[in-house]
Amino acid sequence: MATDEGSRFPIRILLFTVLYLSVTLAVDRSNFKTCDQSSFCKRQRGLMHGSSVYRAVLDSLDVTETRARLQLMNDANQVPLMLEVYGLEGNMTRFKINELNPLRPRYEVPDVLVGDPPVLRLTVTGKDEESVELSLGTNQHKLIITAKPFRMDLLVGRDLVLSVNSRGLLHFEHQRKRMDSFSDKVGSTFVSMWDKMKSLFSSDSQRDTTTIADGEKEEEKANLETDEQMEKAEEPEKEKSAEDETGMWEETFKTHTDSKPNGPTSIGLDFSLPGFENVYGIPEHADDLKLKSTEGGDPYRLYNLDVFQYELYNPMALYGSVPLLLAHNIHHTMGIFWLNAAETWVDISSNTAGKTLFGKMLDYMHGGGETPQTDVRWMSESGIIDVFLLLGPSAKDVFKQYGSLTGTQALPPLFSIGYHQCRWNYNDEEDVRSVDAGFDEHDLPYDVIWLDIEHADGKRYFTWDPNKFSTPKNMLQQLNDKKRRMVTIVDPHIKIDNSYRIHNEIRSRNFYVKTKDGNDYEGWCWPGSAGYPDFTNPEMRSWWSSMFSYDQYEGSMSNLFVWNDMNEPSVFNGPEVTMHKDAVHMDGWEHRDIHNLYGLYVQQATAEGQIQRSGGHERPFVLSRAFFAGSQRYGAIWTGDNAAEWDHLKISVPMCLSLGLVGISFCGADIGGFFKNPSPELLVRWYQMGAYQPFFRAHAHLDTTRREPWLFGEENKQLIRSALRERYALLPYWYTLFYHAYRTGEPVMRPLWVEYPGDVTTFAIDDQFLLGSAILAHPVSEQAARGVQVYLPGKGVVWYDVHTHQKHHAPQTMYVSVTLSSIPVYQRGGSIVPRKERIRRNSECALIDPFTLYVALSPEGFAEGDLFIDDGHSFNFEKKNEFLHRRFTFSGHVLTSSSADPRGHFDTPAWVERVIILGSAKPTSVSVRLSDGKERPLDFHFDAETSVLTIRKPAVKIAEDWSITLR
Ligand code: GLC
Repeated sequence: MATDEGSRFPIRILLFTVLYLSVTLAVDRSNFKTCDQSSFCKRQRGLMHGSSVYRAVLDSLDVTETRARLQLMNDANQVPLMLEVYGLEGNMTRFKINELNPLRPRYEVPDVLVGDPPVLRLTVTGKDEESVELSLGTNQHKLIITAKPFRMDLLVGRDLVLSVNSRGLLHFEHQRKRMDSFSDKVGSTFVSMWDKMKSLFSSDSQRDTTTIADGEKEEEKANLETDEQMEKAEEPEKEKSAEDETGMWEETFKTHTDSKPNGPTSIGLDFSLPGFENVYGIPEHADDLKLKSTEGGDPYRLYNLDVFQYELYNPMALYGSVPLLLAHNIHHTMGIFWLNAAETWVDISSNTAGKTLFGKMLDYMHGGGETPQTDVRWMSESGIIDVFLLLGPSAKDVFKQYGSLTGTQALPPLFSIGYHQCRWNYNDEEDVRSVDAGFDEHDLPYDVIWLDIEHADGKRYFTWDPNKFSTPKNMLQQLNDKKRRMVTIVDPHIKIDNSYRIHNEIRSRNFYVKTKDGNDYEGWCWPGSAGYPDFTNPEMRSWWSSMFSYDQYEGSMSNLFVWNDMNEPSVFNGPEVTMHKDAVHMDGWEHRDIHNLYGLYVQQATAEGQIQRSGGHERPFVLSRAFFAGSQRYGAIWTGDNAAEWDHLKISVPMCLSLGLVGISFCGADIGGFFKNPSPELLVRWYQMGAYQPFFRAHAHLDTTRREPWLFGEENKQLIRSALRERYALLPYWYTLFYHAYRTGEPVMRPLWVEYPGDVTTFAIDDQFLLGSAILAHPVSEQAARGVQVYLPGKGVVWYDVHTHQKHHAPQTMYVSVTLSSIPVYQRGGSIVPRKERIRRNSECALIDPFTLYVALSPEGFAEGDLFIDDGHSFNFEKKNEFLHRRFTFSGHVLTSSSADPRGHFDTPAWVERVIILGSAKPTSVSVRLSDGKERPLDFHFDAETSVLTIRKPAVKIAEDWSITLR
């Protein structure tokens, strides 16, 4: 290697690395801010609920066909804001609040919404001195805007579903000039710096939002009522007392100073949800599924961070953020989507939070209890208030609404829902070969082997270590011969090294993020000193994408996929292990504005690179650690650096459930735990859990002992093999669920309450979950467990144990005895689940294998289910309708297979080798009839003890219409 600028401070790198690798488990909380240490959060939270200083200026109401505008006046400082309201198609409402006359445009999050949400007609249905009533579209929604103090109440029919600013917590820090002489100087330097930074980047690619904001500014000025108001808006009044507050113009945390050139810009707003006691979402937190009251503690924090050895059950920020909160009660579900990419905190309080169930019952019996209510308060450091109210009314409606805004889960290639074998690191090609061979030798199915950072030449991504991985194409070809894939890591920090092509290109194209002074931003990460490409720049993203073409990424082949890590971004020597907030991105936007979006852009550019390298033909696979709203469009997410501890196994359930609720279905946790060494028991239990979670990958820290499944003795290996086989058998069902997630936004792995919205018992359950609506899983997550309490939901519903086929009546909480081999899993009576039961080496080897249909009868003798099939890897299902979507219905003793989507066509020789009917009576004969009308008898076996009817070899094609009749 020629110059290695990264080695200028080898001791510092070593220190950071040692710190990162040390295996004393516990987060160092002092590295991360509490709300009190984040000056805007402290200022926002310092505002107590009470009468709002804001007044809606009703005379300024300006209504077009599709939007209403109104000024909000801050009566304390006379700085006006602009409120805009839209009724959206599909039962949603959007409102925005921005400064009427900002000194500079404020950041409006681009690239997260999939398009401009279609708006509906909006009309004023009432107005007096105190309020305005708007009807939002054709639906039943009415928004009542009260002038003084300003609040908004949203009614559906005659029910109040949500109030905004009813606690008076709207707090919008308008931009201002710093007032004392020193800061005046500094302030103007910053303003000119802003201009300088802007000119550093190409002006052609200016964001739409900037242009729009500028255009609107003129219009807004025209809307101002009086000259006097105009003057005030142009030159915001001095707020001497507020100016004295520390942290407004500069903020220091540990050794880092944030220069805050734009001063205070935070925003905050409260929402009250009468009738709601249960709120969910706003990942990522290592906490329970049902959100807790934050009174007396810190708010939930959304700020993408690389938290070393994160602790469980607290609201601290983690690697990703989705600012979507769901509220649920027995009548309906709704969502609040706060579209803002800056550091955000969310406070939750409830008037029943402190009450025991008994206390609530007493209230109820005495009729004296107040209506339960949850209050939510959002606080962000910059940007504008841009809120989508997703009005359900059902959870599935909310998923659809959110999916229509931010897109749905990309349909993963089939191989990627199989099992992945990873560790930091597989050392060289020989290691890869022998691990790969080990899986065959021990008869364990797997699809993908992964290479972590050590595979690259000195952590220069897109390269291979010349000694350890000298013939990557041979290695990939050998895997390809067995229909297996590889994933390599490509992190977004780029080693600063003049002999590294990627670095040189990024630098010469001026694609690096800048410091506040206009130099390339440098931080410390795995390679030592590194630059951070500005992924907010579309030109940078498209250049990055082009690096994945086969001629650019040397040694890559079509069975090589990618893992984006450290994309929060992680900066070992940055504030809170991330980028300085005053670092500067394209068009002069501060890192502060875009922080939570950075990781999404990295994954997006990588996924697009994979699509492009195949000429637009192949579906990509990219795993990312950081995420934001919309990340579901680009691949999978994992829960980062967990530990080989039982609590970490448990928390994987609520963490993935929360992600699923906000659209990101493809979620998993490191099997076995990343840090520390799992006991064999923990490892087995983790495989059993992972087999039933969407993204199924074992991973381990560099310092851990090797943990390929055959290293734990014969018995444990067999248990792991069974778990893997259960996963592979169920792949047709998983794939179909992913297809539904892609079509509708519904989560693959879902909380029980999504399917049983009226059952209050389900609202806090997060140690078991549903896959779709047919499979309920309660994998064991307790050490030395002898049994688990399984809750089976649904009045009048029956559930069948998938292993014993024993039938259980719901609702009930049932004690199930377990041994180390048990994975309590149930199939709902009324469902049909397709499986593939032949033992294969991986998913592709099973591609055209025959199916077994598990028909679990409801007490009424009914069942239905479906199956999605395509080639498993291309976009042809979308572009050419090359897919099959089959529907299976069992009714009146007849099982019918028909097309669920007549658009689809796909040639497959796959056939049905078995039909297993659970909860059946004994028939006297069974026959099959094809669409040509021909009927032939079928062989069957009935087990009277378990009421299971096995129909052998119907030998019908999966693509055909047919029916099987029991007589
Ligand atoms: C981060 C990742 C981890 C990876 C390691 C080295 O800690 O979260 O999965 O193994 O970096 O790349």
